[in-house]
Order: sequence, then structure tokens, then C-alpha cells
Amino acid sequence: MKWNLRLGITLCASVFGAALALPAAAAETLKIGLVLPMSGPFAGYGKQIEGGVRLYLKQNGDTFAGRKVVLIVKDDTGVAPEVSKRVAQELVVQDKVDILAGFGLTPSAFAVAPIATEAKKPMVVMNAATSAVTTRSNFIVRTSMTLPQITAPIASWAAKNGIHKVFTVVADYGPGQDAEAQFKKTFVAAGGEIVGEIRTPVKNPDFAPFLQKVKDTKPDAVFLFVPAGEQAVGFMKGFAERDLAKAGIKLIATGDITAETGLDAIGAPALGVVTSFHYSEAHNSPENKSFVEAWYKAYGPDRPDFMAVAGYDGMRLIAETVKKTGGSTDGDQFIDAAKGLKWMSPRGPIRIDPETRDIVQTIYIRRVEKVGEKLQNVEFDQVPDFKDPGKL
Ligand code: PHB
Repeated sequence: MKWNLRLGITLCASVFGAALALPAAAAETLKIGLVLPMSGPFAGYGKQIEGGVRLYLKQNGDTFAGRKVVLIVKDDTGVAPEVSKRVAQELVVQDKVDILAGFGLTPSAFAVAPIATEAKKPMVVMNAATSAVTTRSNFIVRTSMTLPQITAPIASWAAKNGIHKVFTVVADYGPGQDAEAQFKKTFVAAGGEIVGEIRTPVKNPDFAPFLQKVKDTKPDAVFLFVPAGEQAVGFMKGFAERDLAKAGIKLIATGDITAETGLDAIGAPALGVVTSFHYSEAHNSPENKSFVEAWYKAYGPDRPDFMAVAGYDGMRLIAETVKKTGGSTDGDQFIDAAKGLKWMSPRGPIRIDPETRDIVQTIYIRRVEKVGEKLQNVEFDQVPDFKDPGKL
């Protein structure tokens, strides 16, 4: 009896000991849940962002402050906020991730923000670019850009470069609405006139009737924002096919339209298009040269674009923040430590604004040119250290 009791206690203690050891071992990993479109028309976003994230780990090692990074990628399929919400909930509740990251599209970031708040999990936004995204949760920090930030410089440039009448065409959701409002504000303040405005559907738009309307209105230029990828390529091709350039209408845009991943598919019609943006594959710096070289070495012929860089920088943000907190991913500690971080990105100098948790960076004015055998966004002017004007 006595012996049995002792055996029971011994067994119990060892089971209990093992149970105790488990959470300690689990705590050593750093689980990052990536919510990304990996299928559907926006699958390219997931590929670029995941590529950037993995490239950072490959170059810098996958252990931050003693915690080995475990990536869990969940496909949210594009503009499908209910799917983004479900997969983020699974990541928090089942996978017990420490950090939520990714977010290719604004509706996805909006849908997940309340989950980050409730679970007190840091949420690192690597693309979704509507200004208001970072205001939806105090646990959000962003490493991509905001639409007002990338739009204001092209509006100023247009007003200074002989463009007086502009027709705006934007995708009808957060980023498009931000782009339209900021373009109007900056361009009109500089003496320009808006002669027409169109908002196009976010899903499967047919640009033909819109292009005809623009052509009939005869503006000096069209200002365009549609999400990077298929839509940007479709609009540019339609612009060429309907001879808008031949009718004397210029195309100006944010650099989403001439992202490197779409440039080859657009081809010659892209030549000469002027855009404002924070990243070009042709950016001339040692940091970018080594990033681009490492990208091609890792992924072959697929070109890197701004989303790859935002994923790469997003991972650097996580690495540097966790080093500062001594390994803690507690939501409040993480966000406090991320505020004010700054470093030299492949895009140029960047920092995290402590007040808004948003990115501050240089915005470049670029023109598409042929460099060697490739179409590239060649930078020729810049606005340094530029904050999101959407929050001023
Ligand atoms: C967004 O949904 O926030 C978004 C998507 C694609 C872009 C820019 C912004 O090119």
C-alpha cells in the first residue's frame, strides 16, 4: 500500500514534470502567423511577401533573442475579409501564434485588427496600405506604405510639370478612396483641376467603358490607382489599345501600376510612365544591390517588387523588436519597442513613427525606362523622410 502510494506519487511527479517542461519548450519558439493571399488573382502578393520574409531569415538566421522562428502561412484568398478573420482566429486560438503578420489587402487588415486587439497580439502589416489601417488597433505596426504617402508626391510633380487637368480613376475601396482624396487635395491646392472621377469595382473590373469616358473627356492626364497585379496590367494594356496616349493623354500613377512583377507583361506601353513610390528594383544603393542579388539567387527569374521588400523589412522589424524586448512578444512591450526603430532598407532609409506606428520613408519620382534588357522604374527625384499625410 505504502509502496504503491509512493510509486503513484513518483509517476504523478514525472507526468507533472513533463507537462511543466512542455510550455517552457514551446515558449522558446517564436510563432509567426502569416495571413496572405496565396491563391486567386492576388496570389502574387503572397508569393512576394513570403519570399521577402524567408529571404530575411535565410540571410540573418531564424533565431531571434534565442527564440527559433516558426512560420505558419494561411491563405486568405484575396479580397475576402471573412476568410482573413477566420484564418487569423485559427492562428491565435489553435496555433497559438505570438505575432500576426502579412496582410496583402486592406479588407483583410481591417477584418483582423479587432482580433489583434482582443488577443493583444502584435500585428505587422506588410502591404495593406489604406491610411486608417494602423488606427484600427494599437497593436498594429506597418512596414509597407500608405496611399496618401505615395500619392501626394505625384500630385505635386504633375502640377509642376505642365499637367493642368486630371481625370482620376481609382479602385472603389479603401486604398483607391485614399488615393483619390489625396490626389485631389494636393493637386487642387497646387492650382490643378480635376475634370472627372471614376471608381472601378475591386473585383473583376472591365476597364473598357471607363477608358472610353476618359478619352472623350480629353484631360491632360489620368491619375490611376488600382491594386498591383492583374488589374494594373489590364488597365495599362487597355490604355494603349484604345490609343489614349496617342490622343495626347498622359498616365500618372502610384508605383503599384508599374510594379516590377507586372512590368514585363505590360511591355512597351509602360515606357515613359511617371509614378511616385517608395521602392524600385533599380534603386541605386548597396543595400538594394545585395537584396536584389540575393533575391534572384534564392528565387530564380521572378522579379522582386515592393511587397517583397515590405515582407523583408517586416521580418527585420520583428527581429529587432524581439531583440529589444529580450525575447518577449507581449503586445504592449513589442509595440513600445517597435516605435522609433529605424534602419537602411533596400528602398532607402525608413523608420517607424512612434505616434502612428506607421512607416516614414523617402518617396521617389520615377520614370519607366529600358535598362539593359529590362523595363525599370528609374528614380529621378525624391521627397525624403515623408510621413503619411493621411494622418496629419
Ligand atoms: C491594399 O489593399 O491595401 C492594397 C493592395 C494593392 C496595392 C496597394 C494597396 O498595390
